[in-house]
Order: sequence, then C-alpha cells, then structure tokens
Amino acid sequence: MNRKPVIAIDGYSSTGKSSISKIIAKKLGLIHLDTGALYRGITYFALQNCLRDDKSVDTDALFSCLEKLNLEFKEVDGNLELYLNGKDISKEIRTPEVSDYVSFIAKQPEVRGFLLQTQRSIAANGGIIMDGRDIGTTILPDADYKFFLTASVDERTRRRHRELTEMGEITDELSVKENLIKRDKIDSEREISPLKQAADAILIDNTLINKEQTIALILSYIKPF
Ligand code: DC
Repeated sequence: MNRKPVIAIDGYSSTGKSSISKIIAKKLGLIHLDTGALYRGITYFALQNCLRDDKSVDTDALFSCLEKLNLEFKEVDGNLELYLNGKDISKEIRTPEVSDYVSFIAKQPEVRGFLLQTQRSIAANGGIIMDGRDIGTTILPDADYKFFLTASVDERTRRRHRELTEMGEITDELSVKENLIKRDKIDSEREISPLKQAADAILIDNTLINKEQTIALILSYIKPF
C-alpha cells in the first residue's frame, strides 16, 4: 500500500478513542477527525437555540436549521478543530449538559443523514483516522483498518470523571457512570447506524492496559505505507 491509509476507530464512550486517534494521527502523518465532535456541535446548537421551557429539544426547529448550520473544521496542528458559525466551540461541546443530550440528538435520522456526507467527503482523499461509533460499519465500510475499543464501565467512569475534573467541571462519579450507561444504551439500541463492532474490526479491550499500550497495540497492526 503506497497511499496513506484510512483507519476507523469505533467503540464505547471514554475508551480513549479520540486521544488515542490523535496521537496515532501525529505519528503516522494522518488527519484525525473526532466525529463525536460533530454530534456534540449540533447538540450544543440545539441547546442554545431549540430548547423548550420544559428542557425538551424542539427537533422540528432543529431540523429546519440544519442546512443553515455552518459547522467547519479548521486544521490546527494536524487536528481538525470544530467551529460553529465562525466560533471555536471545542470547549463548549465537552460539558456534562451536552453529554446528557448528545445521544438523543445523534439518534435522529435527520441529523445522521446531514452528517453522513460531511464525514465521507472529509475522508475522500484518504490519509485519515476517524473515530466514532459507526465509522467501520456505515461511514467508511471500506476503511483499510478497523478497530473497536471497549473497557469496563467502572474503568471508563474513572477516566471520564478524571477528564471532567481536569476541565474544571464539578461532578460526582455516580452521575458520570449513569450518563455513560445511558449513552451506551441509546447509542447501541438506536435504529440507524447503532454502535456496533464491524464484522471485520479488531476488538481491543483496554480495561487493563493504558493509553500508550493501546496505541502500541493498534500500531502493531498497521503495515508500513
Ligand atoms: O465520542 P463522543 O463521546 O464525543 O460522542 C458523543 C456522542 O455522539 C455519542 O454518545 C454518540 C454520538 N456519536 C455517534 O452517534 N456516531 C458517531 N460516529 C460519533 C458519535
């Protein structure tokens, strides 16, 4: 293979998909796209603009805005950072409130349809590592390499709680765990492109191995290009 590869990394929340993909992208000279950021960006927009008084999302209002949403990526140091209507929203999309609503937004067929072409066109030139939930199954079924990451709920809770604490968010482990379990359930049970291991993906359980070991394991499968 002389061209740069296309790599799909799917898996459960807080298995380290994005941070691992980012490091691998740097090592291999690939672009990294965190597709969860796209769903989070739309969720952030919905919370700002389409929230009813009872805190439910007015999905019709959201769908009517989708085509006008200007979600752009800007390349910063090899990573694609997300901008919404010209504003860098990388921090805003990581709050517990966005995490709470994102699986509901991500299961809407209108939202998935809207993001499908965006993701495929970004990958069209190859040389990319994309992480998400349905990259190997739906977005890039012909990817050169597919990995599926998993870890125990308790270990993922610990990692997510630490990450939130480092961001200055005050939250307790129990609510982090509940959010993870709720998202896993909605993401795995939705009708369109549920979270699922592709038949040809390599399964990696990183409960007992750290980030560096997970990266080394993934890299051991990638042939020189
Ligand atoms: O990777 P993340 O936790 O930032 O993703 C946030 C949510 O977005 C996740 O709960 C499900 C959804 N998502 C998705 O449905 N499909 C993807 N390819 C990526 C994320």
